[in-house]
Amino acid sequence: MKSAGLYLHLLVATLTGRSVFAETVSEINGNRYLSPFNGKNVTNVDGLITTKGPNGIWIRSTVPDKDDRTSESVYVFDRNFGKTLSVGDIIQLNGTVTEYRSNKAYIYLTEIINPRLVKKVSSGSAVTPLVIGKDTINPPTKAFSALDNGDVFGVPNSVSLISVTNPILIPRNYGMDFWESLSGELVTVKGAHALTKPNNYGDTWVAGDWRVTGLNSRGGLTTVDKDANPEAIIIGSPLDGSKNPAITRVGDTLGDITGVVTYAFGYYSILPLTALNIIKGVEPALPPPTKLVSNGGCSGITVGSYNVENLWAGSDHLVNISDHIVNYLRSPDLVFVQEIQDDNGETNDAVVSTNLTLTTLTSSIVSIGGPEYQFAEIDPVDDKNGGAPGGNIRTAYLYNPDILQLRKPNLGSSTKANEVLPGPELKYNPGLIDPQNSAWTASRKPLVANFETLDGKNSFFTINVHFGSKGGSSSIEGDARPLVNGGVDDRQGQTQLTADFVAKILAKDKKAKIIVAGDFNEFAFVQPLENFKDVSHLRDLDEAANIPELERYTYLFDMNSQELDHMYISQALKPKAQYEHVHINTWVTKAQQISDHDPSVAKFNICKN
Ligand SMILES: *[C@@H]1O[C@H](CO)[C@@H](O)[C@H](O)[C@H]1NC(C)=O
Ligand SMILES: *[C@@H]1O[C@H](CO)[C@@H](O)[C@H](O)[C@H]1NC(C)=O
Ligand SMILES: *[C@@H]1O[C@H](CO)[C@@H](O)[C@H](O)[C@H]1NC(C)=O
Ligand SMILES: *[C@@H]1O[C@H](CO)[C@@H](O)[C@H](O)[C@H]1NC(C)=O
Repeated sequence: MKSAGLYLHLLVATLTGRSVFAETVSEINGNRYLSPFNGKNVTNVDGLITTKGPNGIWIRSTVPDKDDRTSESVYVFDRNFGKTLSVGDIIQLNGTVTEYRSNKAYIYLTEIINPRLVKKVSSGSAVTPLVIGKDTINPPTKAFSALDNGDVFGVPNSVSLISVTNPILIPRNYGMDFWESLSGELVTVKGAHALTKPNNYGDTWVAGDWRVTGLNSRGGLTTVDKDANPEAIIIGSPLDGSKNPAITRVGDTLGDITGVVTYAFGYYSILPLTALNIIKGVEPALPPPTKLVSNGGCSGITVGSYNVENLWAGSDHLVNISDHIVNYLRSPDLVFVQEIQDDNGETNDAVVSTNLTLTTLTSSIVSIGGPEYQFAEIDPVDDKNGGAPGGNIRTAYLYNPDILQLRKPNLGSSTKANEVLPGPELKYNPGLIDPQNSAWTASRKPLVANFETLDGKNSFFTINVHFGSKGGSSSIEGDARPLVNGGVDDRQGQTQLTADFVAKILAKDKKAKIIVAGDFNEFAFVQPLENFKDVSHLRDLDEAANIPELERYTYLFDMNSQELDHMYISQALKPKAQYEHVHINTWVTKAQQISDHDPSVAKFNICKN
């Protein structure tokens, strides 16, 4: 093999008239993720300097091949090498090819280290960026990698590693392959718009003027089943030392962006020559308040759900949450809240009570014109619910006592399992689902309740959930394929127990009205929630209320607008059910965001029929 390779090399060199001991950039990159020259010295590599950065330069081959898979550019990592060189110089260098990654969960970046200048051939050549989608093919819009077997969120996760399988690139089909095939290239993204707010470093996901799928009405890209938007690219730190704006919002127009394609911190990214520029801010700045308002009777009960992000009595954002509940959710008759902390928040002591937190919230709501909500919750066993240490987060209900009351209230405890009694009615109202079950280790136990109108004639069951988090997930553009979906097994167990409880109510009364809502920490089309739907026989309210698929989002993560928060309802609640996601947090700037989740509101007919 070796001699055949050398023979070919000699032949190619003879035919092209190049020095026998020379590698091209495309040969160095090869048509896979890892360089065939990894760890080897290369000599007389020809390249045009397209870009200079603080720690190295990017060169583009002067002898390109015709293969879409092999990038014609590469990073030369060395602080000093480029000091006496300029953009537009054509050089020849020797060096060592290496594959670098700063974390073993990432993809390797092919680069040349230890560069030595053989000669400077010329200077002053024009440097023209490749326009993505014009000088390149269009980025693929659905799949990330062939190794995902068609589903980046497929279970089981982490079945293979790109660094081991090292697949041949198929840039037309797979987003990661597409960006890998441009690694090191100077590119222009034409007509970019923002898909997220910047992260703490100012890095911002964008899409250009190429064809995208998943575009929602705000300008974000929504994750749907088997389409998690690999056509997006994150714009990293500008190479000239300037800073990207911190106030970018989803949908803002950014114009053209020129920079080099690289891989860093778990993602393919573009390092722009200079900072992003917001050319036009998306309007309106804020979403309208919900149109779903209670009619005060059983035919028009409103139900909200809101992950209020680590709320306690002393939270700065408590008043803002109250404002959202009153002015944007328009004071639903019942509010499912998640992430209610104990009375002293993250002070890590034995306090688990949340009376002060919830009375502070409910009086704040009154002070801005909302109803005098009552609340229902069960204090957890100290330090057993996960979340921020010491916070003892749990789920709770706020209900308007002019409209609703608990049916035969009988407060459960942090350790006793609720049961479905003949009726059906609940043994504990409110009570927790099997709180000692190991499925809930370091997670919230769902809070079950049974509410009725004040005349006692109309009632419905509720389950407020906050399933285990996705902490421990790997990057959507990381080495493990499909990505490690952190906590997916926990959520599978948790959805099973919750669905079993629902099934017990429906077994006693198939017309029972049941709402399961909250932060499921999972997408509707991923195994735990598919299982939940199958076992519980509930309906996804997004579907039942005909929310357009691309408008189903309550959260921003990576490049995606996505939905972790859901409502599921029993068939009896389906007629005339209405639903809205109120994008009060996803639309605004990072500084204006009150919680990391958007709230939602629904309206139901709960009249006994
Ligand atoms: C690669 O080049 C470096 C620097 O010239 C040299 O020290 C090293 O021995 C070379 N390695 C191989 C495998 O030829
Ligand atoms: C580059 O490599 C070639 C081939 O090994 C060698 O002849 C030349 O001296 C090297 N040049 C430098 C500057 O290292
Ligand atoms: C809860 O707080 C309210 C108002 O601060 C207080 O009146 C009430 O007694 C408290 N209840 C309990 C059980 O501590
Ligand atoms: C929260 O509400 C307070 C009081 O109205 C206001 O001053 C503050 O700006 C709000 N915070 C944010 C982030 O909007």
